[in-house]
Amino acid sequence: MKHLLGLYHISKEEILDIFKLTEKLKYELKNDIKHHLLKGKTLAMIFEKSSTRTRVSFETGMYQLGGHPLFLSSNDIQLGRGETIEDTAKVLSRYVDGIMIRTFKQSDVEDLAAHGSIPVINALTDLLHPCQVLADIFTIYEEFGTIEDKKLAYIGDGNNMAHSLLYGCTKVGMDISIATPKGYEPDQDVVDKAFEFAKESGCTIHIGNDPEKAVGGASAVYTDTWVSMGMEEEKERRIKDFNGFLVDDSLMGKAADNAIFLHCLPGYRGFEVSAGVMDGPSSRIFNEAENRLHVQKAVMVKLMGGK
Ligand code: CP
Ligand code: NVA
Repeated sequence: MKHLLGLYHISKEEILDIFKLTEKLKYELKNDIKHHLLKGKTLAMIFEKSSTRTRVSFETGMYQLGGHPLFLSSNDIQLGRGETIEDTAKVLSRYVDGIMIRTFKQSDVEDLAAHGSIPVINALTDLLHPCQVLADIFTIYEEFGTIEDKKLAYIGDGNNMAHSLLYGCTKVGMDISIATPKGYEPDQDVVDKAFEFAKESGCTIHIGNDPEKAVGGASAVYTDTWVSMGMEEEKERRIKDFNGFLVDDSLMGKAADNAIFLHCLPGYRGFEVSAGVMDGPSSRIFNEAENRLHVQKAVMVKLMGGK
C-alpha cells in the first residue's frame, strides 16, 4: 500500500492489518504508552472543504505519533489561485513526508499521487471517503468481535459514503444493502467494481429503493446527510425527494435484534435520522468518530513509517 486513494486498491489482508495496528495504537493511547512512530515526519493536510472530525483527528493523530501536521486551507495556498495539482505535488514532495487532501474531484487526489513522490491520503472527495469507512468497519468489528457474516444497510443518498461503503464492505466480505430514493442510486461504475470485489470475497450486494427491505437482517444501519458539501443549492428539492428515508426507531426495529446505528457525521436530527435513534441505545456514532483517530494513525504509520 503506497497511498490511500480509495478502498478499491486495497486488499482485505491490508485492511485487517490496518485494524491490527489500530487496536495496538488505541491500547497504547488509552494506557499512556508513547508511540512516536512518526517522529520527525510532517503531514501536509490540504482542505478544500470544511471539516471537524477529519481535521482534528489527523492533526491530533500526527501529534500523538510524534510528527508534525501542517494545515493548508486551499484559500491560503497557491492551489486556490490556480497552481496545478502536478506542481503542488512535486513541491510538497520536497518538503513533507505525506499529503492528506479533502477536495472535490477524485482525479485531483489521484493526480497528486501520480505526480508526487510521497504517500497521499484521500480525506474525502465527491466520490469517496475511505478513511471514514475504515473507521466504520473497525467499529463494527469492535462491537461484534468479527466482521464475518455481518450485513450493513445504508439508507439515503448514493453519495461518497455509499460508494466507499460499497468498496469497504465488499473488500472485507460483508453483505451490503443500499436503499436510496429513485434517481439517487450510487454511481454505476462503483457498483460494477463492487460486484467484482463481492465475487472475490463471497458477499452479497443489494441496491434498491426500499429502506425496510434493505435493513432486514442488518447488524449495522448507516445513513448520511441528504445534502453533501457542495450540494447546498439542492437542499429544498432533496428534502422532498428523500421523504420516507428517515432512519427512526421503527426502521431500526426491522434490522437484526442487536443492530447498531452508524453515521459518519455531521448528522441532522429530524432529516436523515431521528433524534431518538441518533441519541439512543443502538447508536455508536461517537465511538465511530473516535475510531477515525485510531484508524488514521494506523494508516499514517503504514504509509509514512516504513512499517
Ligand atoms: N465524517 C467526517 O469526515 O467529518 P468531518 O467532515 O467533520 O471531517
Ligand atoms: N456525504 C458527506 C460526508 C461528510 C463527511 C459530504 O460529502 O458532505
